[in-house]
Amino acid sequence: MLYVCATRAASAVFPFGERVSMARRKKIYEGKAKILYEGPEPGTLVQYFKDDATAYNAEKRDVIEGKGVLNNRLSEFFMTGLNGIGVPTHFLRRLNMREQLVRACEIIPLEVVVRNIAAGSMSKRLGIEEGTPLPRPIVEYYFKDDKLGDPMVTEEHIAAFGWASQQDMDDMVALALRVNDYMSGLMYGVGIRLVDFKIEVGRIYDGDYQRLIVADEISPDSCRLWDIETGQKLDKDVFRQDLGNLTDAYTEVARRLGVMPKQATHLGKPKLIN
Ligand code: TMP
Repeated sequence: MLYVCATRAASAVFPFGERVSMARRKKIYEGKAKILYEGPEPGTLVQYFKDDATAYNAEKRDVIEGKGVLNNRLSEFFMTGLNGIGVPTHFLRRLNMREQLVRACEIIPLEVVVRNIAAGSMSKRLGIEEGTPLPRPIVEYYFKDDKLGDPMVTEEHIAAFGWASQQDMDDMVALALRVNDYMSGLMYGVGIRLVDFKIEVGRIYDGDYQRLIVADEISPDSCRLWDIETGQKLDKDVFRQDLGNLTDAYTEVARRLGVMPKQATHLGKPKLIN
């Protein structure tokens, strides 16, 4: 069934020159960097990427022109590749510069982090120098709760509080490690080290069966990416630590991967049109 909107459609021009249809539709959820709208068919959602950047549990915030466009493209690229090698994701297709059609799923309230190299909160928590290679990829869970600052939890907490079953946890670890292998190889091929990343996992129902898929986004917002030669950071740490221009860093990742949006340059402010 096609989603037909009775109200008059408008359109807006964004800084990257894209024109996005603004037909009125139901907002399902608004997060810090994305909005989910009702999709055109049952079981689908439209995922809209904003330019908003937040860090330190939203204590630091800014609007970074073009970030949403880049993350939409990059997440499309990674999830298409994962779908292609049999790692199921929620991604169906990109709709325009800022939106993609995704499968609706029940999000498990956990962030699954995989680390290859010590950095960020792990370095702080365990006193391991940033950049130290880990003996093997380490998978961690964080409970998704902004008020609590997304605390780290163990499988014991997850099972005891019923956030996921033991089978779900085994499946989540398997998914996360497959994503790690795929993303590490892809990045290594363009001279970038995948230091760590976060995924979110959703549950979908196929008749009597349920299975888990990679949901949300995979982008430089949710990964640590370091240039192999220079160690230059090409991820959200550029924003967190005020290391330079975030759009330039994400554009460099997109350029190396060959997914540079046609007009992804700094085009200045949007012009009003009649
Ligand atoms: P951390 O070192 O701050 O725990 O982050 C580990 C990885 O997870 C890093 O690549 C950033 C990503 N991440 C998110 O995408 N969202 C979050 O809310 C957090 C805490 C981390």
